[in-house]
Amino acid sequence: MRQATITIDKQALKKNFNRVKSLAPHSKVVSMVKANAYGHDIKACLSALSETDAFGVACLDEAIQIRKLGYTQDITLIEGVFDEAELVSAIEYNCECLVHHQTQVEWIKKHHTSYKKKNLKVWVKLNSGMNRLGFKPNEIVSIIRELKSFGFTCILTMHFANADTEHDLNQQQQKLFLDIKEQCSPILASCCNSAALFKWQDLHFDYVRPGVMLYGASPFADHTVNELELTPVMDFSAEVIALNTIQAGEKVGYGSSFIAPHAMKIAVIGVGYGDGYPRAYQQQNYVYINGTLAPLIGRVSMDMMAIDVTDLPTSIGDKVELWGKHRLVDDVAIANGTIGYELLCRLTTRPHRI
Ligand SMILES: Cc1ncc(COP(=O)(O)O)c(C=O)c1O
Repeated sequence: MRQATITIDKQALKKNFNRVKSLAPHSKVVSMVKANAYGHDIKACLSALSETDAFGVACLDEAIQIRKLGYTQDITLIEGVFDEAELVSAIEYNCECLVHHQTQVEWIKKHHTSYKKKNLKVWVKLNSGMNRLGFKPNEIVSIIRELKSFGFTCILTMHFANADTEHDLNQQQQKLFLDIKEQCSPILASCCNSAALFKWQDLHFDYVRPGVMLYGASPFADHTVNELELTPVMDFSAEVIALNTIQAGEKVGYGSSFIAPHAMKIAVIGVGYGDGYPRAYQQQNYVYINGTLAPLIGRVSMDMMAIDVTDLPTSIGDKVELWGKHRLVDDVAIANGTIGYELLCRLTTRPHRI
């Protein structure tokens, strides 16, 4: 059987969740499980997150999947609903909605009785400078006051554009958020994703919303998961399916982009971009095999790719870690000019799942 396999380590997920709790002991945790738990398989992950207070998802379909699996924790729809009919379903499935534009506010006011009957809170989004979703600072206070007058319990929320780096906007976003929070006091508040949760203890407030850190990938370009005391949850592995000895001047793979500088032993691995492994590495990329890192050579094809094992005892059937605890997804991402988040989310359905 072809061995391209994704294995999910639930103990690692629990450990990372506990890391969240140790960093933010006084806040409720909304575990972000959108996009199939960042590609990890939502079903596999939910049971390991049994101590979470809530789940965060991007759409009602994702929330319904959680309910159908039998989980009763709060669910936040972090973009709210996309039409009025969906609001009726969201209420039916006990989902808390975010509002980021006026029409959503109108829908929620119209359905206030059934919404409040379920004790659902309303997440009200401030556009504090990311200019993706949310009300402008000069409009949000009156919206919150109006929602409060309808008897809703509101949570003021926003999202940082640059929590992973040093950026002037960080201070501006924080200042705006604190200012609006003050004006709307008393109000529940939430603004921390993984990076913010690590960096700004004083901004944890009522709810933190960790995503990538739960899965043991780093939210920062300049801090590894080991430094952050996180454990990779996903192991993406395949195996050696062929070994070739080639002479100086021979070529490897599509486009013959790799030309052997000397006699080499190469191993062909049964995995490719058809499984979700990235094709376009811009810096030298590696896999972990037999206790060491071995470099990729030539182009990644749909079902296979090649590595240099000239000095490494290697046999057909040897396990190759594409990313996991030894070859970090964040490092594969850097080699490919992207972020770990993207690699995790874009895996295909072809690898086996354990
Ligand atoms: C609104 C919101 N909160 C929290 C998160 C979690 O972010 P991270 O995975 O960086 O922790 C996201 C992710 O995109 C988000 O959109």
